[in-house]
Amino acid sequence: MELKLITEVDDLRGKYVIVRASFNVPLVEGRVRNDFRLKRALPTLKFLQDNGAKTIVISHIGREPEETLMPVYEELKNALPMKWGGKITDEAFVDIRNNLQEGEIVVCENLRQDEREEANDPVLAEIIANFGDLYVNDAFAEAHREHTSTLGVAKLLPAYAGITLSEEVEHLAKMMSPKSPSILLLGGAKFETKMPLVEKYLELYDHVFIGGALTHDILKARGLEIGKSLVSDVSLVEAPFLWSEKVLVPIDVVVEGKNGEETKPADSVLPEDIIYDLGYETIMMLKPYIEKAETILWNGPFGNYEKGFEEGTEAVAELVAGASGFSVIGGGDTVAAVNKLNLADKFGFMSIGGGSMLTLLEYGSTPALEVLRR
Ligand code: 3PG
Repeated sequence: MELKLITEVDDLRGKYVIVRASFNVPLVEGRVRNDFRLKRALPTLKFLQDNGAKTIVISHIGREPEETLMPVYEELKNALPMKWGGKITDEAFVDIRNNLQEGEIVVCENLRQDEREEANDPVLAEIIANFGDLYVNDAFAEAHREHTSTLGVAKLLPAYAGITLSEEVEHLAKMMSPKSPSILLLGGAKFETKMPLVEKYLELYDHVFIGGALTHDILKARGLEIGKSLVSDVSLVEAPFLWSEKVLVPIDVVVEGKNGEETKPADSVLPEDIIYDLGYETIMMLKPYIEKAETILWNGPFGNYEKGFEEGTEAVAELVAGASGFSVIGGGDTVAAVNKLNLADKFGFMSIGGGSMLTLLEYGSTPALEVLRR
């Protein structure tokens, strides 16, 4: 997909540029816990600053409307000088915007404090677009959302891709024509949203490893006991790939049952057990596939992160980091595991996307990306 790039615009000096960034990062006690997405926002902001643009940055954070981007701003301004703009719809913002100097950046408050953001509201889109001469989408993590800031505003202004967004699209496009041997590692939950992706990638890739809570659906459909483990809203009994030799699933699992936590073969789960992670034998089973692969694509954790089951994901991260093939990984928990182990530079590319990565891999594009097409 050929995108129009902001880096190709000739004269940005004095132009008002609205940048949609991905500042949806986890906060703990009001501080940024993981700045991976923030670091990836910097190249575009720095480029605009260096080229004398007057930059207005918009984003959302969290799921609750009262959440604020202030901690993100506090973190970002250590890396690049910028101002706080408050709500873009407040009257006070008009003066802040009009007084911006060439090369200055202003960060606005969480757009989802305004319910019109998620509704792709034309009035809000117009209010925002009126503040800019150009629009830049650098928010790959929200490329699957059809919201005011990702779509509505983009349709009203000359719209370009930011540096990070275009890198994301380029790398993920490559993963759609993988070099063989290839393996897709898929974790997380909710098979109902991942079914078409699995079907498509079984055609494209030599193997698809299905881990995380998705494993439970496969085991259940194959007639095995999964105890009280989490299942999706969809049954895989009729799934064409259920018995496919290209599908790999954990051969042992970590459960919590009446004896506490233990690792057991995947076909020995008891009715009172809850599966929380994959086991060591599964890592050993995966090892040769990952070591031999020319292409490794990975999205989603393999254990229940909220409950502290990180070992399976971390063991896979070590394997992928040590592999010689080209690897692309994404998903918040996957990337968090990699960062925790200081392995970030051992992968071909780390996506800031989770759901957006899966959507792009599945459909090849999204409406928010289509408006940026050359
Ligand atoms: C993400 O973290 O997946 C993106 O920022 C999208 O966030 P959302 O699910 O709140 O739209």
